[in-house]
Amino acid sequence: MPRVRVHQHVNPLSPFYRQEPKPIQFSRVFADPGLPLHLDIGCARGRFLLKMAEIEPGWNFLGVEIREPLVNEANRIAAEENLHNLHYAFANAMFWLDVLLSEVPNGTLQMVTIQFPDPWFKKKHVKRRMVNKELVDAIIVKLADSGRIFLQTDIEFLAEEIFNLFRQNEVVREIEIDANPFQVKTEREVAVEDKGQPVYRKKFEKIGKSV
Ligand SMILES: C[S@@+](CC[C@H](N)C(=O)[O-])C[C@H]1O[C@@H](n2cnc3c(N)ncnc32)[C@H](O)[C@@H]1O
Repeated sequence: MPRVRVHQHVNPLSPFYRQEPKPIQFSRVFADPGLPLHLDIGCARGRFLLKMAEIEPGWNFLGVEIREPLVNEANRIAAEENLHNLHYAFANAMFWLDVLLSEVPNGTLQMVTIQFPDPWFKKKHVKRRMVNKELVDAIIVKLADSGRIFLQTDIEFLAEEIFNLFRQNEVVREIEIDANPFQVKTEREVAVEDKGQPVYRKKFEKIGKSV
């Protein structure tokens, strides 16, 4: 089946993408909502999570993506593959991650990945960047103690900007890594590595308020 065609970028500040999503009903979308949760933000076609869900049946995987046709296609493929530990949600994560995850008890999210988020290079587009303080705060609230965040991008200045947003938070500690810790690479990661270009990666782990 041909891949669904979509715009390369959508403006996340336009009124359509400011609409509030419904909270995800975990008991409806996962066969066992009690499994540890891995959230991938800006998942595009969701192929990374598709493979992760196949090889890690003891986890639930949730992808969030702003381009709705990609979400519909990814959910169709997950259903065809009978993967009941995988779901994709259409939402603008820069505004609505907290609403989307409002059924997730605080302090229970085990893993978050943000991989090659769109750069919006120009200064006039800074406000369109997905990883902002609100997104980071929403992640940290939901993250379990020892819960981890994995970040990677090929854009050096954007990597520093994103890493700094997490560094500003005292309940996470930074972990140096030089490779993707997962068995699966994202589509963008493969494309960047095939060109021999560098990838900037970092892990953060929640250490709790008392540390
Ligand atoms: C360059 S792609 C990378 C996709 C995938 N993570 C990978 O590594 O192959 C970035 C993705 O983030 C999505 N995205 C950008 N801003 C977003 C937002 N505010 N909320 C949700 N998704 C967003 C884009 O639509 C796009 O699919």
